[in-house]
Amino acid sequence: MLPRIAPSLLAADFTRLGEEVRAIEAAGADWLHLDIMDGHFVPNISFGPALVRALRPLSPMIFDVHLMIAPADPYIEAFAAAGADLISLHPEAGPHLHRSLQTIQRLGKKCGVVLNPATPASVVEPVLDLVDLILVMAVNPGFGGQSFLDSQLPKIAALRRMIDASGRTIALQVDGGVTAATAPHCLAAGADVLVAGTAVFGATDYAAAIAALRGTTCQT
Ligand code: DX5
Ligand code: ZN
Repeated sequence: MLPRIAPSLLAADFTRLGEEVRAIEAAGADWLHLDIMDGHFVPNISFGPALVRALRPLSPMIFDVHLMIAPADPYIEAFAAAGADLISLHPEAGPHLHRSLQTIQRLGKKCGVVLNPATPASVVEPVLDLVDLILVMAVNPGFGGQSFLDSQLPKIAALRRMIDASGRTIALQVDGGVTAATAPHCLAAGADVLVAGTAVFGATDYAAAIAALRGTTCQT
């Protein structure tokens, strides 16, 4: 199966966000990755549920909300109500990861766990029965445009083995520094969803950029 591509809105032109969402959908994007930053869990501030809600009517793409906020629990419901399809959080963002995942599921949304570069794969093992997605950060979260950390590739491979052994359908996503050059390494390690900010929104031809990440050539 072709990998799914989730452009990160963080790298879009903020003066034309609606147009940017429509443009990546037309260019073949599968999911829209929405990076939520609070200036506390990560050293940057992005946007909140109001923007997710405003963009929701524009596209049927999966809205993939990556929470980089702490505490995350008090805001889960707001993002669910705003139209997130999938909500991912970091285990460091609250005291009870299992409970947070249950909260997301109870709201009828898919849930994901995000692993920082220094967070081991084993953290997700006890909640493997709950998660729909595991996200491996290949940069320290907070900013787009950083360089891919090759050190994360063995973790992606270990998670692929863990997921396959579980027999469950769990997406394995990589975020940070994903480009046409680093994407093949992610895919070879077993990732099946690639987040890319700069590599898509920094390109002049979004369709060609998305195709290049997938390892195919553009059909249009
Ligand atoms: C980083 C964010 C990423 C970021 C990726 O904290 O989680 O989603 O937007 O940007 P690029 O693809 O430019 O590294
Ligand atoms: Zn992200």
